[in-house]
Amino acid sequence: ERVAILISGSGSNMVTLADSMVGDHPARPVLVLSNRPDAGGLEKAAARGIPTAVVDHRPFKGDRAGFEAALQAVLDAARPDIICLAGFMRVLSADFVQHWQGRILNIHPSLLPKYRGLDTHARALAAGESEAGCTVHEVTPALDDGPVLGQATVPVRPGDTPETLAARVLEQEHRLYPEVLRRFAAGDRRPVMLN
Ligand code: GRF
Repeated sequence: ERVAILISGSGSNMVTLADSMVGDHPARPVLVLSNRPDAGGLEKAAARGIPTAVVDHRPFKGDRAGFEAALQAVLDAARPDIICLAGFMRVLSADFVQHWQGRILNIHPSLLPKYRGLDTHARALAAGESEAGCTVHEVTPALDDGPVLGQATVPVRPGDTPETLAARVLEQEHRLYPEVLRRFAAGDRRPVMLN
């Protein structure tokens, strides 16, 4: 299976996904694509010999269709079987998602369906949650809403800040996403539940 990974930033999830696709793993990374030219993940991908591309969203301000057409052209050239959104911070239209539906995954730093959208850790802390975590789900047109493929939980600790909680959750993201991708690429849809 050919996997394209979409990033916007440091790419720590991309790195753990890419590094997991070795040996008898049914998938291989064929592209790392960023909407930001300065994304730190681009050089990490290049250092691993993974082809990279940038489709900067800024020239397409107000023209989501144009941005997504540019994304689609780069993806069509890479012929991915699976797309993994990994810290990708652009909302994708229903048209784009429907083209890839069933083959596009995302990792979200909350225990969905709680805390869709942004600032998940601050919101979980403000709500007094005793546990938090992350979710890998299939991407559907509704934001952060598709079928759950895996979740990992972490305890909220006294004195936690959004930063300390984010770091604890990120560690679990790096465990969860590779395991979900391995199963997904093998056609196994049993959810992965960690901790
Ligand atoms: C992190 O906040 C993570 O929770 C979310 O995207 C952000 C950046 O992740 N999935 P990465 O280091 O770019 O993979």
